[in-house]
Amino acid sequence: MLDSERKAPLTKEDRLLRVGVLGAGLIAQAAHLQACKKARNVELYALCDAAADLLEKVAAVSEPRKTFASYEALLDDRQVEAIIIAVADQFHVSMAIQALEAGKHVLVEKPMGVDVAECERLEETARTRPHLHVQIGTMRRFDPGIAFAHDFIRNEMGELLAVKAWYCDSIFRYQETDNLHPWILTSSQAKRPQGDPKADKFSYYLLGHGSHLVDTARFLGGEIFAVRAEYRERAGARSWFVSVEFANGAFGHLDLTLPVRMEWHEGFQVYGANGSVLAKGFNPWYFKACEVECFSMRDNQYHRLLGADGYTFRRQIEGFADVILKGVPVVGAQIQDGLAAVRALSAISHSVKTGNRVVLAEAPGNI
Ligand SMILES: NC(=O)c1ccc[n+]([C@@H]2O[C@H](COP(=O)([O-])OP(=O)(O)OC[C@H]3O[C@@H](n4cnc5c(N)ncnc54)[C@H](O)[C@@H]3O)[C@@H](O)[C@H]2O)c1
Repeated sequence: MLDSERKAPLTKEDRLLRVGVLGAGLIAQAAHLQACKKARNVELYALCDAAADLLEKVAAVSEPRKTFASYEALLDDRQVEAIIIAVADQFHVSMAIQALEAGKHVLVEKPMGVDVAECERLEETARTRPHLHVQIGTMRRFDPGIAFAHDFIRNEMGELLAVKAWYCDSIFRYQETDNLHPWILTSSQAKRPQGDPKADKFSYYLLGHGSHLVDTARFLGGEIFAVRAEYRERAGARSWFVSVEFANGAFGHLDLTLPVRMEWHEGFQVYGANGSVLAKGFNPWYFKACEVECFSMRDNQYHRLLGADGYTFRRQIEGFADVILKGVPVVGAQIQDGLAAVRALSAISHSVKTGNRVVLAEAPGNI
């Protein structure tokens, strides 16, 4: 790139984590490549995709130092310290295990995997390599509004009574994301899972969208012990209403509905002994932090976070690199969180199918 093309230089730290991105598809183009370029502590070192035409075009824009058509060759490069796994859900676990076996840190897109058994395999592999950091890409934890609510709940709110959280994708979503995303390059050579995982919308939406909702609920309310879920499909929309029992004795309600005939509708309400939280989120592609109001009995006032940096994907990779390079505490979802989220999704799915309350530890594992 010509230096003169940039108006202001990015400030980069002296020590940069050398990251290789696996997958040059939608999420890499819309999020991870830009996030790596802009992150203060990361170098976009390598990009890998099996589709040679896509790799060439995407690399021409994102300018990694190296490109690879084969994942094995990417992992063989000793300069690569960490891998972002940005490929289809069905490939997450096997690619993450390969990366760990090659001695690389891993940021794997959400959901961690497509069933509990394979997530447990990844957990086992990671357990034998505690020096490697594994993080799951449920990036809402890096929304400063959600982090503010999380800290308020932990530090001020006292005993938790109830958590309500909703994630309702808008009927205007594709119009909005088409407007917000860069032009996404595609290839007929792209490597995809066998069959068509998107054909089964029940599990595809639960995995794709439910993983965010469940992770946010756990981040705020703690471990989920059991669920009872109901599901309706009507007028081209799908809705999961889930009663939740948290391990700490609080209870809650999750609403996953898509698409709702209105704007993107995401948020949460939390009630506790010494305060309450009310939050409204936005379509994440606006990179606009959640609006959060925390009422505290300490001073009888509402506390808000304004004008916060909502570029969750950049903050996510910066947080990931900080853990590895500086040993700072982990903010992102860890393996146990990714596994617990998939367990919760399995329990929700099983509860819908049986009509029963399902304890997560007893969920069958598939979704
Ligand atoms: N965090 C979020 O909010 C968010 C949003 C959208 C998508 N995602 C996740 O991102 C992941 C990727 O989604 P996408 O839409 O970008 O997929 P995609 O199919 O558009 O892109 C994946 C790319 O990976 C390449 N690939 C697959 N296996 C490969 C291999 N073994 N070696 C080399 N290249 C390989 C394919 O050729 C393809 O180009 C999914 O898990 C999805 O759930 C997350």
